[in-house]
This record gives sequence, C-alpha cells and structure tokens, in this order.
Amino acid sequence: MRNFILGVIITLLLLFLGGLAIATLGFLPTTADSTPPKMERRLAMSAMDASMERHAPRVTSPVPPTDDNLIDGMKIYTMNCAGCHGNLDNKPSPFGGSFYPPVPQLIIHPMDDPEWHIYYAVRTGIRYTGMPAWNKTLTEQEMWKVTTFLTRIEKLPPAVQDYWKKSFAVAPPVASPDGEEHGHHQ
Ligand code: HEC
Repeated sequence: MRNFILGVIITLLLLFLGGLAIATLGFLPTTADSTPPKMERRLAMSAMDASMERHAPRVTSPVPPTDDNLIDGMKIYTMNCAGCHGNLDNKPSPFGGSFYPPVPQLIIHPMDDPEWHIYYAVRTGIRYTGMPAWNKTLTEQEMWKVTTFLTRIEKLPPAVQDYWKKSFAVAPPVASPDGEEHGHHQ
C-alpha cells in the first residue's frame, strides 16, 4: 500500500514537472491566429456552459424591452461590441477570427441563451478569452439594455427594425418560420 501511494505521488510529480518544463521551455504556442482543435473547443465550451450554469444568478432583467431600450441597446452594442462581435450591417467582424478562441458573431448567429446567462457573460467577462468584463465601463442599465437587445435580435418590434434599416442600410435578421435553432456555437 505504501509503495502504491508513493508511486501515485511520484507520477503526479513527474506530470507536474513535465508540464512545467513544456511551458518554461517554450513549447506552448502563443499564436492567436490559429483555429482551436475540435476537441479543445468542445471541452472548453461545455466547461464554460457548466460554469455559468453553476455561477450565474438567475436574475430577471429590470429593463423592459421597450422600443427605446432596444434602440439604446443597439447603440451600446454598436459602440462597444460590434468591433469584435460583428456590426449591424450583417458582415462578420474581421477581428472575429483573430482571437483564440474566435469571437462568436452575435448578429449573424444570434444567441438563444436566457437573459441571465448573457448578462452574466457581459458583466463578468469570460476568462482566457478576449471577452472583457464590462462592469467597470458600462452601467447596470447599459449592460441590461445591451442584453435585452441581444436576446431579441430576431424578433425586434417594427419601430426598432426600421431604426436598424435606416442606420445600417440592411434589414435585421428574422427567425426562420420553421423554428430552426440559431446557436452561436459554430
Ligand atoms: C475584444 C473583443 C470583444 C469585445 C469588444 C466584446 N467581446 Fe464578447 N466575446 C469575445 C470573445 C472572444 C468571446 C468568446 C468567448 C468564448 O469563446 O467562450 C465573447 C463572448 C461573448 C458572449 C457569449 C458568451 C457565451 O455564453 O457564449 C456574449 C454574450 C458577449 N461576448 C457579449 C458581448 C457584449 C454585449 C459586448 C459589448 C458590451 C462584447 N461582448 C464585447 C470578445 C469580445
């Protein structure tokens, strides 16, 4: 039994030292302009979803989805988020693939997650990615307004759609009638 425990400890130590050597000798890549392997992506995605599921408070938005709030949310998105997540002209951001992991394009592939999930991602950011925490640069109201907008991209009221068309010369995306899912997890 003692030998077994010693064996486990030595194995763990070797694994740890091996990892340390790989890192300090420069074998880990720093490049952000490559595509994460499928396996890594799948693992990271499910870890992130599980973590949010565990940590994010199930809060209800204090901001009602009125036309004014949605238009405010659109403006906040355009000024702070479009550079990475894609503009309202329905073209992907050239920066989208320049991050590791790549930035989800939230206009072309709208999210179907609940508001508490999106609000938590916006407020606290996402560790080890390019997604910043916005709680120091946006107010509570602003974070909720952009969340309200992001959860309704495909079902905006007519006045807000008109505002979008006037401002960006393209029509906003609409949900397909067959109820097809538009996951952002490409
Ligand atoms: C500097 C680039 C950058 C900016 C600016 C940025 N984001 Fe992100 N965002 C990212 C990246 C990268 C991810 C992907 C993280 C991942 O792969 O899990 C992300 C992910 C997200 C997610 C998805 C979380 C999930 O559950 O999949 C949401 C929602 C989001 N951002 C909202 C916003 C909003 C709203 C703004 C503006 C207030 C914003 N982002 C600004 C880079 C950015």
